[in-house]
Amino acid sequence: MASLLSPIESLVVLLPALIANGSPVLLASGKPLDLGLTLWDGRRALGDGKTFQGYILGLLYGLGFGLFAAGLASLEVEAYTAPILLSVNGALLGDIVASFAKRRLGLERGAPAPVLDQLDFYTGSLLALYAGGYLLDPLVAITLAGLVYILHRATNTAAYMLGLKDRPW
Ligand code: CTP
Ligand code: MG
Repeated sequence: MASLLSPIESLVVLLPALIANGSPVLLASGKPLDLGLTLWDGRRALGDGKTFQGYILGLLYGLGFGLFAAGLASLEVEAYTAPILLSVNGALLGDIVASFAKRRLGLERGAPAPVLDQLDFYTGSLLALYAGGYLLDPLVAITLAGLVYILHRATNTAAYMLGLKDRPW
């Protein structure tokens, strides 16, 4: 049965998606998820920007943050492990799907794809939650999308200024 998440529960499950999406940038490099595979169009399946290490780091940081946030919000931590895992994995997969799409469009790793870059992981997270039977109030989902977009732009600009990223997006 589907359950509707309250605004605070929505935050507790969706903020980890933001953490999961943002933490892999801390890695200098890793083993590419596509193992270097080139597809029919002569371009990489995903590219060097999607790595095993990045996935695992995002998963651990996202889950860790989510469980901590659930505790802070006085929610029963165990009951939130499943939706947090759905959200975090959905975010990481959404980002991977977006890289696949960018490569097929002929965009190099790191090239900007406005809106897609900022909301790929959030959409992935929402879809995974929905598939797992967790629904959000549409108004909360849309408000958070706006917030995520702004936060993503701000954190990426900060990562660029700190020298963690080559480009501010
Ligand atoms: N990253 C990673 N593994 C992942 C996701 C991200 O190692 N599964 C790291 C990479 O170092 C990547 C950085 O986080 O460069 C920023 O991620 P993102 O902006 O999604 O990648 P891009 O380099 O912009 O590549 P793409 O064009 O494929 O989005
Ligand atoms: Mg990028």
